[in-house]
Amino acid sequence: MSPLAPTADHAWLRPDAPALGRQILAVDASGPLVETVGAEVADLTTWHGGRLAPTDEATVVLTTADRARGVLAAAGLGEPDRAVADLGPEAFAVVRGHGRLAVVGGSDRGLLYGFHHMRRLQDPLGHGSDGTEIHAPTHPVRMLDHWDNVAVHPVMGQVERGYADGSLFYHDGRLRPNLDRVRHYARLLASVGINRVSLNNVNVHRLEATLLTERLDDVVRLAEVFRPQGVAVYLSVNFSSPMTLGGLPTADPADEAVRSWWASAVRRIYDAIPDFGGFVVKADSEGQPGPFGYGRTHADGANMLARALAPHGGEVFWRAFVYNHRQDWRDRSTDRARAAYDHFTPLDGQFDDNVVLQVKHGPMDFQVREPVSPVIGAMPRTRLALELQVTQEYTGQQRHVCYLAPMWSQVLHFPFGEDDAPTVSDVASGRATAPSGGIVAVSNVGADEHWTGHPFAQANLYALGRLAWDPQLPAESILDEWLAATFADESVRDAARSIMTGSWETYEQYTAPLGVGFMVRPGHHYGPDVDGYEYTPWGTYHFADRDGVGVDRTRATGTGYAGQYPEPWASRFELSETTPDELLLFFHHVPYTHRLHSGKTVIQHIYDTHFAGVERVEEMLATWERVREQAPRPLADRVRERLEEQRRSAIEWRDQVNTYFFRKSGIPDNRGRTIY
Ligand code: GCU
Repeated sequence: MSPLAPTADHAWLRPDAPALGRQILAVDASGPLVETVGAEVADLTTWHGGRLAPTDEATVVLTTADRARGVLAAAGLGEPDRAVADLGPEAFAVVRGHGRLAVVGGSDRGLLYGFHHMRRLQDPLGHGSDGTEIHAPTHPVRMLDHWDNVAVHPVMGQVERGYADGSLFYHDGRLRPNLDRVRHYARLLASVGINRVSLNNVNVHRLEATLLTERLDDVVRLAEVFRPQGVAVYLSVNFSSPMTLGGLPTADPADEAVRSWWASAVRRIYDAIPDFGGFVVKADSEGQPGPFGYGRTHADGANMLARALAPHGGEVFWRAFVYNHRQDWRDRSTDRARAAYDHFTPLDGQFDDNVVLQVKHGPMDFQVREPVSPVIGAMPRTRLALELQVTQEYTGQQRHVCYLAPMWSQVLHFPFGEDDAPTVSDVASGRATAPSGGIVAVSNVGADEHWTGHPFAQANLYALGRLAWDPQLPAESILDEWLAATFADESVRDAARSIMTGSWETYEQYTAPLGVGFMVRPGHHYGPDVDGYEYTPWGTYHFADRDGVGVDRTRATGTGYAGQYPEPWASRFELSETTPDELLLFFHHVPYTHRLHSGKTVIQHIYDTHFAGVERVEEMLATWERVREQAPRPLADRVRERLEEQRRSAIEWRDQVNTYFFRKSGIPDNRGRTIY
């Protein structure tokens, strides 16, 4: 089944791994994806010495709910439980008894997910007790956005914020003739339950806009690769397409000719790709065109596209990342953090049912630490998707180790109110307000032989799928699953676990302190540049002076952003005493001598965390050196090379940040360490 050479990096679908392949298996199910499951099973048994057999002989039986009664009886597993009849199409049941088991998919798609669940278990038959256990995804939408360009963009390269070489899909200005790696990628996605993929950058340049028209055949071919894995394809579209591609004088959503241009463009897509998913749109943001240009609202713009897609069952993912990127840094009244809430909450209830508003998890831009975006809790009559960034733009660019699942778990469990109030996940899953928008994330893969630049960054992709399926899974268990699936050698797994555990906090320690964010080199966003954005139009400031640092976002004296939260958060964030340490400088401008809850002053915290972060990276490197010989090549060397770069970069961060704040404040380190 795997189209890759046995020596290639298969990521977590290691062909030599699963115990499932030693079983006697039967597949008796209905639906188009059953062929995919059958091919997976055949492949596993060939590798591992198991075999396919009739149902009554098999130890593991794979079926779908419509056939469950007959198949379970034949397998000696009795009558199906009532819950089996109620399975949703993506859900599956595992039925155990008499040393055998059956996986029952709610549909062929549920079966595919059930198959991968079995594959993950080290000992499928030895696991769990007799009876029926139900698995269903929490978020129905589990989507990846690619920021791939067809051609190499002169500034952004081929993949915008991509750190894994060029695009997996396109090469030399066209679709790759050999799509075997995309085929494997699609398997990887299905194995963690991803069911949607958008194929191109949200900043849609001239050439990429034509994926909608002249280059539609490329989309057709990619859809053919993703379809057998249950993944629907989407396109990012440019709001001005009726002008740039259609030659119309306007892209005004109220214009009849514009509407009919979109309707016929969409019709052509569905003629070629009947299961096409829909559009992703970045409008009126960072130079992209949008409805504001015509005096229309974002609801007008989104609904116009939604109405073109609705007859075919398509949907629009409309991004809430809209802010003024031409701000005057002298203007203290404009706060980029406020922008999405100010733009979108007045539109609650105005979006069509097939519009999903896609909101970044924090109010700024995927920083290592941000508060949860208040927009997510403030639009109960709108389908909302949470947008995460798997690609590590601001978290080390896949040169640094930064396992992000702990951050995502925190976000997903954030309650909009007291502890029992609906969480981010409740909103995204539709449990708090119906219907749901889901989880969308920017992908981190590329043409790189290890898929993600840093091989350990594969774990972030894995974790994204697993958390979107079940946000209750602890980040540590997801890491253990990934390690077990990825590395055969136990000492390598232990080393990788110790390197990756806490790596998010480590990255935070040596970069921008206490939630203040940015301090990165403008443009490419790698490495330290404390004042890099300070006097620019981008709205990302830290306001450090000789007395203190941080952004006053209080209602009383600042930008008022804290007031966008419901209680108790609005009151908690309003006061420095009740703001969590890690977000202090996001909400408050405080003196360097301000004492944190930890008991340290802000300045001493900055020094201590920056020294500690580098020490931790030194330990990571030493840990890997101890097991490097046991790890597969060339992965082992790639990890070492990246860890060495992480050490170099962490030292650079430590010295620039510490020196900057020492020079501003004049306060020495109380431990007398070297600051320049
Ligand atoms: C960030 C990123 C851009 C990207 C943008 C977005 O600002 O740096 O490259 O286009 O996010 O999410 O649209």
